[in-house]
Amino acid sequence: MRFLAAIEGIVPYTPGVPIENVMRQYGLTEVVKLASNEFPLPPLAEVKAAVMAAFDEVNRYPDGDCLDLRQALAELFGRRLEEIAVGNGMDDLLELLGDALLDHGDEVVFADPSFMLYEDICLRRDAKAVMIPLLPDFGHDLEAMAAAVTPRTKLVIVCNPNNPTGNYLPAAEVAAFVDKIPADVLVVIDEAYNEFVSADDREDTQRLQAERPNVCLFRTFSKAYGLAGLRVAYGLCPEVVRDALDKVRQPFNVNRLAQVAALEALKHQDQILERRRLIIEMREYLESALASMGRAVVPSQTNFVLVSIEGLSVPQDKVCEALMALGVIVRDGNGLGCPGWARVSTGTREEMDFFLDRLRSLEPQASS
Ligand SMILES: Cc1ncc(COP(=O)(O)O)c(C=O)c1O
Repeated sequence: MRFLAAIEGIVPYTPGVPIENVMRQYGLTEVVKLASNEFPLPPLAEVKAAVMAAFDEVNRYPDGDCLDLRQALAELFGRRLEEIAVGNGMDDLLELLGDALLDHGDEVVFADPSFMLYEDICLRRDAKAVMIPLLPDFGHDLEAMAAAVTPRTKLVIVCNPNNPTGNYLPAAEVAAFVDKIPADVLVVIDEAYNEFVSADDREDTQRLQAERPNVCLFRTFSKAYGLAGLRVAYGLCPEVVRDALDKVRQPFNVNRLAQVAALEALKHQDQILERRRLIIEMREYLESALASMGRAVVPSQTNFVLVSIEGLSVPQDKVCEALMALGVIVRDGNGLGCPGWARVSTGTREEMDFFLDRLRSLEPQASS
């Protein structure tokens, strides 16, 4: 077998460890998973009912053009249908961009650490990942990112708020950055966590995108809408980009149940707003509890918090394992480019207290 040389260096994605595995491994009856930035509650009742009703039709292929969902998104954002792309999760939209744009030696500029898929997309196509280190406070080094653009650059990705650090770039800074990027380079603003942003300028990037011919805004139903398991995301794109994505996608890339669920969820913005409030409240609760324990946290605008795990009673690289043995699955920063930190998703109040209690049990005991 002669596989592509380009895939040799790729390490398969390691997802958060499943709850059942941890229960089995450690003989636990209660395990809380705070590792994959999922929404902690089941989907809305109306979404469940719509999906159940649509199940009887899964003998039929879905609408490959996702017309109803795209129409609803177009109305919500005041766009034309031709400017709306949907994908099998944002992962799919990013991969489609890779297929449509990247060839051997092309360059993609993004921050490091950021969402890990960006690098894989480059590796798979033998393109060059130009990774610009975050600043010491974990902010984007926008100046260095703009300076890294060369004639080979096809794509620039800004993850805002950034995963795994959670911090937020004000929309005005994003706009000033985009204006420095040549018009033939596509800029993708990955806003997977946009709904959790509490800053006033949360919606401003929509106008920024609409006004610029080389900017896409990608968002997902996996986080605030709680549909991670169904896989559906959308992009507000210039028409030429939407057309290109349309050419390279699978004919039925978004399944029937995902389309129905997303369409129904969009109709219940009041409940989505409630869910947004819950996450923001829990994030603030988590951040202040960690700060009162003397733990450094990166100010987050997402549904997760990056917290320092230095100075506990177990060595830093064993903390996440120790937490797992106590029934909490969090993401070890070592695997995310943030050694000495752990990424903790916000859950319900009970889940937050469960985690905080286990973390406290790892604090060094004061000697008497
Ligand atoms: C920054 C970022 N972008 C994209 C994604 C992928 O989202 P989706 O579930 O829609 O594929 C994630 C998932 O965690 C993410 O953190």
